[in-house]
Amino acid sequence: MTILEQKKAAAEEALKYVKDGMLLGLGTGSTADLFTEALGKKVAEGLNVKCVPTSEATRQLAERLDIELIQLNDEPVLDLTIDGADELDAQLRLIKGGGGALLREKIVATSSKMMIVIADESKKVDVLGKFPLPIEVVQYGARATAFMIGTVGEWAGCTGKIELRKDDNENPFITDNGNYIIDCHFGEIKEPEKLLSGLSSIAGVVEHGLFVSICKVAILGTPFGPITLEPKE
Ligand code: 5RP
Repeated sequence: MTILEQKKAAAEEALKYVKDGMLLGLGTGSTADLFTEALGKKVAEGLNVKCVPTSEATRQLAERLDIELIQLNDEPVLDLTIDGADELDAQLRLIKGGGGALLREKIVATSSKMMIVIADESKKVDVLGKFPLPIEVVQYGARATAFMIGTVGEWAGCTGKIELRKDDNENPFITDNGNYIIDCHFGEIKEPEKLLSGLSSIAGVVEHGLFVSICKVAILGTPFGPITLEPKE
């Protein structure tokens, strides 16, 4: 099985958790797109769901597939969110935000009774941090905020390059919310809870890509078919 086939199999497996009448959060990224496409087929066959997209890109995809979209403000509690991840560990702590959608992804996931992550098995790591941790920051004072992120990182035992994300034209990447993303190449994040508490205390930080105690099930594509994981204590 190719990586694409593994991701597709994970997306198809996640469909089993979707029931008629549910309010769903739709994630962002290549794996989440595969789920949205599979969901679109079910909707065309008569499945009745209402969905909140976690990014403008996902909104456009869902609209093309004639999936009914709603505002989170109109339905503040969703049944289920299905999303991808950049990394996950055995406790199903995640790094998200590779696609720059972490703020809406976290708002939607934490407004859901359940979040399921779908990914290929290469995303599973022993210790989070090989993937640079994305942090969404307000544009004002972004360099000062980056400096403070570095200081907090050191306090939490994390060091490494901290850089402003650029788009394909070498301009600062702007999120759907009009903010910047700072990517932190920390290597190993041994104490994610300590790091996230420090990051949340920085005024210019809007949100960070550490998702802790949010994901309840992960479905990983493997060459032998999808496997389902629950958090290990
Ligand atoms: C977007 C995300 C994505 O879920 C994450 O980047 C994984 O994407 P992909 O499935 O394409 O590997 O967090 O902000």
